Amino acid sequence: MKVGVLVSGTGTNLQALLDAETTGRLEPATLAVVISNKPGVQALARAGAANVPAFVVEHAAVAREVFEDQLHAVLAAHHVEAIVLAGFMRVLTPHFLDHYRDRIINTHPSLLPAFPGANAAAQAIAHGVKISGVTIHFVDASLDGGPIIEQVAVPVFDDDDAAALQARIQSEEHKLLPDVVQRLARGELSCQGRKVRGPGRRAE
Ligand code: GAR
Repeated sequence: MKVGVLVSGTGTNLQALLDAETTGRLEPATLAVVISNKPGVQALARAGAANVPAFVVEHAAVAREVFEDQLHAVLAAHHVEAIVLAGFMRVLTPHFLDHYRDRIINTHPSLLPAFPGANAAAQAIAHGVKISGVTIHFVDASLDGGPIIEQVAVPVFDDDDAAALQARIQSEEHKLLPDVVQRLARGELSCQGRKVRGPGRRAE
């Protein structure tokens, strides 16, 4: 299954996917293309270093539907069947999402539905929660609100700031994301309404 990765920044999650592909932990998924909506970000250099085609599709100067059509054109040209949003900080509309129903996932640094949107770790610190974590979910038109595939919790300590919590969350995120992408590519994730079913999700 050819996978496209959409990014906006540092790309540590993209790196986790690239590393997993190198060591065979993504099979049968292959990373076909990386697209950033921002020029010059580190994620683009990571893709280049791994010889994965990388493109910039900027959102700023064009209407939302034009931006989404441009994204779709690059993805289609690379025969992409599934998409990972890995730190991609734009909301996508049904105009785009309808091409990829149940084949587009996002990773988010909180235990959703708590703290959607930007700066989730800072939101968690400000709220005073004792546990946060990472959520990987299917993408719908809501803000970080699609059906939840997998979550891992991490503790929040009294002396944490947002950066410390984000780092603790990301070390779990980097393990979880490649695993979920592999399960998606294997066809192991099925979505029934809001419930995502799959191997390893039953008590017995
Ligand atoms: C990740 O922690 C990801 O969960 C988060 O942005 C970070 C990007 O890091 N995404 C969101 O907050 C989406 N709402 P990275 O560029 O190093 O992978």
